[in-house]
Amino acid sequence: MLEPKELSLEVTELKKYFRVGGGTLKAVDGVSFSIARGETLGLVGESGCGKTTCGRTCVGLYPKTAGQVRYRGQDVHRLRGSARKAFTKQVQTIFQDPYASLDPRLTVTDIIAEGIKNHNLCPGAKERRERVFDLLEQVGLNREHASRYIHEFSGGQRQRIGIARALAVDPEFIMCDEPISALDVSIQAQIVNLLIRLQRERDLTYLFIAHDLSMVKHISDRIAVMYLGVMVELTSSEELYTHPAHPYTKALLSAIPIPDPKVEERRVRTVLEGDVPSPINPPQGCRFCGRCAMATDRCAQERPQLREISPGHLAACHLI
Ligand SMILES: Nc1ncnc2c1ncn2[C@@H]1O[C@H](COP(=O)(O)OP(=O)(O)OP(=O)(O)O)[C@@H](O)[C@H]1O
Ligand SMILES: [Mg+2]
Repeated sequence: MLEPKELSLEVTELKKYFRVGGGTLKAVDGVSFSIARGETLGLVGESGCGKTTCGRTCVGLYPKTAGQVRYRGQDVHRLRGSARKAFTKQVQTIFQDPYASLDPRLTVTDIIAEGIKNHNLCPGAKERRERVFDLLEQVGLNREHASRYIHEFSGGQRQRIGIARALAVDPEFIMCDEPISALDVSIQAQIVNLLIRLQRERDLTYLFIAHDLSMVKHISDRIAVMYLGVMVELTSSEELYTHPAHPYTKALLSAIPIPDPKVEERRVRTVLEGDVPSPINPPQGCRFCGRCAMATDRCAQERPQLREISPGHLAACHLI
């Protein structure tokens, strides 16, 4: 019999609001999902839909407004003392723009060794240096890079350094916030392949954020689609690409070419018009209503709940 998979992250009705001049901005407005240990959950949606806010709140970088986030059973927002310290080692983040997130005044060694020092993982300077060299090799760089500064590297190399920094403390979970969006397409695949290899070698769990669906399929076991602070669809990558249910997911998929001619043939193209509405006064019914070609009166009035439309496939739409 199959053992039930151990849960890594459990997010329940999470809300994160920001106070802004014009009122309350509902960046994340009641999102629930879980990630099993060793799994990759892709989180996709257009710019401003709340992916970064969701990711950052999940890993405790932002306080929450409501709901709950549990990491291996512990409430992320209530961790104190040694439990908090352990969490900051177990859970790491990789950012979209390594140039902005890596200190330009530090050498690569200093950047990578910072977490090792903070968590006292390698007391001797010599061992620490060896560990940095080893990490550089694991991400496809070498020891000659160790004494250089971040401006001396290409975008892809910088992201490799960002990955080495995250790996330095031997984490279990990495929140990857659009780690490939700023890179050339040819480099994107290299970084994704590196992350996949590292995951296998180190049994890592990923929350992988992306704004389009082109690369996420290769890395994600399941994919969650977000729209204006809520989740509109959640299922396995395979199912999402072959049987997308939500009109928003279909529109996102329309934007990318599918190499499989059989899938391409069946596909109905939907073009996404207009912009994402403001999260300060989001639409009362379905949040996608104003941009949905199929919307009815009910869609404008009543918010659709995320429900199981087939085993393991969740969607929030009145028309499915
Ligand atoms: N610190 C903040 N204060 C106020 N509003 C914020 C803050 N951070 C994000 N927002 C707002 O919350 C909403 C969600 O932003 P978020 O950055 O989470 O979106 P995103 O999906 O990551 O977008 P992108 O693809 O551009 O990175 C946006 O309307 C944004 O303007
Ligand atoms: Mg973002």
